[in-house]
Amino acid sequence: MWQTISYVSTANRSLTLPKISELFEFVKTTNDNLNITGILMYSDGNFFQILEGEKALIKELFRKILIDPRHYDIIKIFDHEMEEPSFTKYNSDFLTINRKSKHSELEGFLEKERNHNPETFNSVSYLTNKFMQLS
Ligand SMILES: Cc1cc2nc3c(=O)[nH]c(=O)nc-3n(C[C@H](O)[C@H](O)[C@H](O)COP(=O)(O)O)c2cc1C
Repeated sequence: MWQTISYVSTANRSLTLPKISELFEFVKTTNDNLNITGILMYSDGNFFQILEGEKALIKELFRKILIDPRHYDIIKIFDHEMEEPSFTKYNSDFLTINRKSKHSELEGFLEKERNHNPETFNSVSYLTNKFMQLS
């Protein structure tokens, strides 16, 4: 069973850019090892993340993320099951986007969201655009 969770949060003020890069490196390596796909974006003091993977793993990871002191004011955007991951399947790179770039996988993900989850599509699409422009 696959699960996807997305949220936005506010980075702790003490989190310097090198610390954020360190976090991005850690997230990429850990998620690649666990076959967790999705994206993590940082812009102007905020994080935006989409996680996809095996349900129990994603739920467990999100519990850890919720209590991580490196950020706060975590607002969940969606949390639902999915038929299959939208981002590249096993062993793909977990995308850590911290610069303005067009990304075809992200576009693919948004296209699926538009079809399957129209109720959350608008907010996710808005947020990803916002993060891309601000980065
Ligand atoms: C914004 C943000 C996003 C994170 N995303 C992930 C993630 O995708 N995967 C991951 O393993 N840890 C992520 N973490 C780190 C976890 O909160 C946690 O520190 C990490 O899983 C190690 O937990 P453990 O030492 O209890 O195993 C994230 C932390 C923050 C602040």
